[in-house]
Amino acid sequence: MSGNFDAVDIIRTKRDKGTLSDEQIDWTIDAYTRGIIADEQMSALNMAILLNGMSRPEISRWTAAMIASGERMDFSALGKATADKHSTGGVGDKITLPLAALVAVFGVAVPQLSGRGLGHTGGTLDKLESIPGWQASLSNEQMMNQLSDVGAVICAAGSGLAPADKKLYALRDVTGTVESIPLIASSIMSKKIAEGTGSLVLDVKVGSGAFMKDEESARELAETMVALGKDAGVNTVALLTNMETPLGLTAGNAIEVAESVEVLAGGGPEDVVELTVRLAEEMLACAGIHDADPAAALQDGRAMDVWKRMISAQGGDLDAALPVAKESEMIYAPADGVLVGLDALSVGVAAWRLGAGRARKEDVVQAGAGVRMHAKPGAMVRAGEPLMTLLTDTPEKFARAHDALADAVVIASEGARPAQQLIIDRIS
Ligand code: URA
Repeated sequence: MSGNFDAVDIIRTKRDKGTLSDEQIDWTIDAYTRGIIADEQMSALNMAILLNGMSRPEISRWTAAMIASGERMDFSALGKATADKHSTGGVGDKITLPLAALVAVFGVAVPQLSGRGLGHTGGTLDKLESIPGWQASLSNEQMMNQLSDVGAVICAAGSGLAPADKKLYALRDVTGTVESIPLIASSIMSKKIAEGTGSLVLDVKVGSGAFMKDEESARELAETMVALGKDAGVNTVALLTNMETPLGLTAGNAIEVAESVEVLAGGGPEDVVELTVRLAEEMLACAGIHDADPAAALQDGRAMDVWKRMISAQGGDLDAALPVAKESEMIYAPADGVLVGLDALSVGVAAWRLGAGRARKEDVVQAGAGVRMHAKPGAMVRAGEPLMTLLTDTPEKFARAHDALADAVVIASEGARPAQQLIIDRIS
């Protein structure tokens, strides 16, 4: 590691809106990973970055230093193109499940390293772990074998990828420094670039249920990540997509798997199908395939075939029933009219409080818990009609879930139209 710097000087530089040199950044990331920079110093630096930002070259170097802190995977031995998708996180976002299988139909390998959920947005691994027998942890060799045989794998990211980010993200989580575009962009992209994919499609969510509540910040995050990807030689594009209302009709774990299987069987909610197909088209185009018809592969069973092989390869029992919550309670429409709002954050918090998510890393999630919706914005509803079913194994959780949903539903007079546009923009 070049140079030997003083952490306090580095903090002062960012505090005073200065620019860090490449050597200072390399030293900072390496010294923090090795325990030479203390947590309190890194917290101060993170806060200075959150308040004063970083230049594009600084973000790029910060990302490269985090990649260099660990291993970098290499799929070139597969002999086929690789493509991956990353979502910045939303409510009811189960798209990775049908998407990985769908893209693999066209001969593009999908190494989808995923995480567990924390807070109101669910984690892909939590959802898949509701399938009896399914295993999230694979060795690099098992992952390569599955990519070669099946073409798609969704598994836990090993601890060897960008270890600096792991330590830094945990610190940001407890110091109010998550919400910084340079830090979010470098955190996500360091992991995705280290993962070794050739192409990457980013689904950057905008709205109440997303990290980025407004379009302007989501756009800035998307542009920053696309630039980082391209700098690293990864074909990267981003879609800005709506997260004012949940995706599909389910937010939870097993209920989201069931909905994904409906999509793979050629059915499922329109918005989930639309986004799955669009992201598949983008991933395939990034990987050089422009004439594929992913919608047809959902209809004719080809994506379902890959899904079954992908789940069985990781021990999942396709014949076993998915877990069902022991208890349920209904929420009814308070009036006649058009459902114009069903707030994503409220539904996400309710699902989380019902047991579908965790408050601390060590919490165990309930496979059957969550919220099943019976209407989407745009639907006509009648007073007293069921709008949502709350699901949990622990009925004492219902009260807090009802609290979360107190202002979630907006019903307007007939003729009103919800302002809904699923795909807001594309950034490349
Ligand atoms: N997800 C990440 O991986 N990192 C962040 O900083 C925020 C979301």
